[in-house]
Amino acid sequence: MKKNIGSQLALYPTPVTVIGAMNGERPTWTLVAHVGIIGHDRVLVSLAAPHFINHCIKETRKLSVNIVDEELLPLADYSGSVSGTKEDKGGLFAYTKGDAGTPVIERAPLTMECTVEDVYNTKGFESFICTIDGTYVEETHLDEKGKINYGSLKPVLFEFPTYEYLRTGDVIGKCLSFKNKE
Ligand SMILES: Cc1cc2nc3c(=O)[nH]c(=O)nc-3n(C[C@H](O)[C@H](O)[C@H](O)COP(=O)(O)O)c2cc1C
Repeated sequence: MKKNIGSQLALYPTPVTVIGAMNGERPTWTLVAHVGIIGHDRVLVSLAAPHFINHCIKETRKLSVNIVDEELLPLADYSGSVSGTKEDKGGLFAYTKGDAGTPVIERAPLTMECTVEDVYNTKGFESFICTIDGTYVEETHLDEKGKINYGSLKPVLFEFPTYEYLRTGDVIGKCLSFKNKE
């Protein structure tokens, strides 16, 4: 028996990311788990409108999406606990600037540098729709063909209902390998 529990945000788990943007000469960082994919060339980063980082993103039209693994999680979690309006978070992560000028967290296993193409406004939220300028990956997470190996990268996942972080699970099969099996 299934029960209709109403209109619920139920599309979980999602990957945990630290969004970076330059605030003048210093970076600022915000934990964001409401991220998504649009088509094959855009990502979406959904931010509450009052967040400190939003004006930095709107000013530069650039942001970095840093994937969080278990080692990075404590600092990443902290970036989601305090606003840049109250505390300068610029020193939280060691970083370098990527080719597109966004702050790339040195310790993040994977970082996408992005350009904001559009902002989709809903009540209280600004969702940034971005193209991807470049992707920095720890070489240990690239396979022999140069593809990203998420099995070793192990992104941390998030779910809202229990407000918990989850570990990435096991591989259960190759896509489309179930086609001819009942
Ligand atoms: C696990 C977790 C996930 C979060 N995901 C989002 C999110 O998807 N969008 C958002 O706007 N804020 C999210 N937040 C809240 C912000 O990270 C938090 O309010 C932060 O302090 C805002 O920083 P800022 O004002 O410096 O930008 C999340 C916080 C936590 C702990």
